Amino acid sequence: MNKKGRLVCVGTGIKLMVHMTPISKQQIEQADIVFIAVASSLMGSWIKELNSNIHDLGQYYGEGKSRLDTYKEMIAAIMKEVRSGKNVCAAFYGHPGVFALAPHKVIEIAKKEGYQAHMEAGISAEDCLYADLAIDPGRFGCQHYETTQFMVHNKNIEPSAYLVLWQIGIAGDQELTQFSTTETKLGALRDKLFGIYPEDHEVILYESSTVLLKESRIEKIKLQELANVETSLETTLVIPPLRNKKL
Ligand SMILES: C[S@@+](CC[C@H](N)C(=O)[O-])C[C@H]1O[C@@H](n2cnc3c(N)ncnc32)[C@H](O)[C@@H]1O
Repeated sequence: MNKKGRLVCVGTGIKLMVHMTPISKQQIEQADIVFIAVASSLMGSWIKELNSNIHDLGQYYGEGKSRLDTYKEMIAAIMKEVRSGKNVCAAFYGHPGVFALAPHKVIEIAKKEGYQAHMEAGISAEDCLYADLAIDPGRFGCQHYETTQFMVHNKNIEPSAYLVLWQIGIAGDQELTQFSTTETKLGALRDKLFGIYPEDHEVILYESSTVLLKESRIEKIKLQELANVETSLETTLVIPPLRNKKL
């Protein structure tokens, strides 16, 4: 039998107010407490209008502090409330299960301890990039990797399919302590990609707009220019297929 506490992890979507699904909104409104891990203070303020009992998980991040420690603290804070018998909602930006460790882990722990726990899907940056860049992942295939993992491990890349590299804004951060990258690290990424693609291959720096009426960043550059670009924590690198076969 399930114990009294309950957990649901929901996604806020990427665009403020308009991307959140009705079921996620309902979960937030009905929860005893809502944990939030969001990318902007505007999103935080809006969620606070839906439920005033907010606990901001952003406070656990720190410059030079391992993100693994941060995730452990987030999980501990959420589980404390679940164990006390509350109806807990944790809202993560985008889709809570896409390139996000804490939501998967906390659900796993809660279930193991006998609590009812599940995830509701959200609109992720991936969904936005398919729309903004007119990409159908089913046409040529689409590979997704975390940038540093791609740089460090030998991944078998299929160059006739799309390659999407997440977290280019912290490329090369193996200690998981940084919130930015450097020209040198981006240069190392570029050099690794030179082993797969020609130097003049066109790649796209993508940042989905997070508010209505603002344009997304869709910056097309040649691969050889990659070391000198501006990146943020919201930048995703999209590498189109090497050979565009007409289907
Ligand atoms: C920790 S992951 C979180 C992803 C999020 N759960 C989602 O569903 O989109 C952070 C990475 O997602 C991507 N990302 C987040 N916001 C984005 C945006 N507005 N536009 C494009 N990519 C974004 C970037 O690659 C960023 O480094």
